[in-house]
Amino acid sequence: MNNLNQQNKNWKSKRKILLGISGGIAAYKIPYLVREIRKLNCEVEIIMTDSAKNFVTPMTLSTLSGRKVFTDSDFDFTIPHVNLTQWAEIFVVAPCTANTLGKFANGISDNLLTSAFTAANIPVIVFPAMNENMFDNPSTQKNLEILSKRGVTVVNPSYGDLACGISGRGRMPEPDEIMKEVLRVLSPVHDMAGKKVLITAGPTHEYIDPVRYISNPSSGKMGVAMARSAWYRGAEIKIIAGSVEIDSYGFEVIKVKSALEMFEAVKNNFEWADYIVMAAAVGDYRAKEFHAHKIKREGKGDFILELTQNPDIAAEIGKIKNDKILIGFAAETQNLIENAVSKLERKNLDYILVNDVLAENSGFQSDFNTLRLIDRDKNEFLFSGLKEDIAFEVLGNVIR
Ligand code: CTP
Repeated sequence: MNNLNQQNKNWKSKRKILLGISGGIAAYKIPYLVREIRKLNCEVEIIMTDSAKNFVTPMTLSTLSGRKVFTDSDFDFTIPHVNLTQWAEIFVVAPCTANTLGKFANGISDNLLTSAFTAANIPVIVFPAMNENMFDNPSTQKNLEILSKRGVTVVNPSYGDLACGISGRGRMPEPDEIMKEVLRVLSPVHDMAGKKVLITAGPTHEYIDPVRYISNPSSGKMGVAMARSAWYRGAEIKIIAGSVEIDSYGFEVIKVKSALEMFEAVKNNFEWADYIVMAAAVGDYRAKEFHAHKIKREGKGDFILELTQNPDIAAEIGKIKNDKILIGFAAETQNLIENAVSKLERKNLDYILVNDVLAENSGFQSDFNTLRLIDRDKNEFLFSGLKEDIAFEVLGNVIR
């Protein structure tokens, strides 16, 4: 058995991040971002402007980062603005105020943070956060356009409650979301840029009556891991999610309940996709008859429920696949390879990922998995580890 795709393993850890903080109220979230960075076992150096110190203290940040925090009083012969940008792999500016954006776009280097920006020869990602009118102001928009054209990654603020008391566009993403954007830039490969990936994930609920359904324990984690990894590699993602809460930051989410709804959603988005990953645990059967009112037990003995087969979404898509790459999953309890190869052929898939759902520390609910990828030539590749890590490696194999 081959195991080709070991390169890029652990690419998220031990990264060197320079974090710039300017003076906006969203700076209160930054200690949590520093914790996110440290949780990933990455190193972080911090530069903050004088006005950022009104919102979060250097002491808090240096305690969390385990390092001295640089402020304007460190702007001396040791040239920290140059040394820090030479040390780092990425410069993250969060929150980025209208004032700091304006300086970045116009080459003004009047403090340590803006001087570091001018000296930086590394990828830069900025998270503007401000009042909605300040964000919409033509000079802010012009500055953002200038920065984008120069290759700076701009992550626009989202809608939400703002410090000024209104709801509007100006909210900085949450720390875990910022980290995802940072990792997207840091990804060792962006070989799915421009590609569109449609993913099904999670369980379906096949309702018998308004309060009861047939389902399975799928958590949707493997599908989301495939989505996140493709997103890190640069792809655009649409995820068709069964009844489960998923981490969907950066994805377009289409929520469905039953297999029939999932089938409709897949058909409606089929043309859009270059890759279709079918990771959902689709119910194979639904109740032959849906009871519009709650089924009562009084006066009944045993209750026999008649079931009818749901469409096999993967197989139906396999019939019309054209040049799309189809990746399916096989959840098995015995004869893993044999069953998976038979599904790959029967459903006209390009790849199938098979796992033993009875194995310890893998499968449903777990953050870990052991998977075999099988292609149309029946080559096998083994992957084991965190779902998100193995999803990244699996995609590497598929792309190659
Ligand atoms: N699948 C699907 N529609 C279904 C059932 C399964 O699209 N009604 C897809 C799954 O998303 C997965 C693949 O088909 O990608 C295999 O699913 P699995 O449940 O392992 O197999 P089944 O085809 O349902 O066969 P069986 O339950 O008999 O093993």
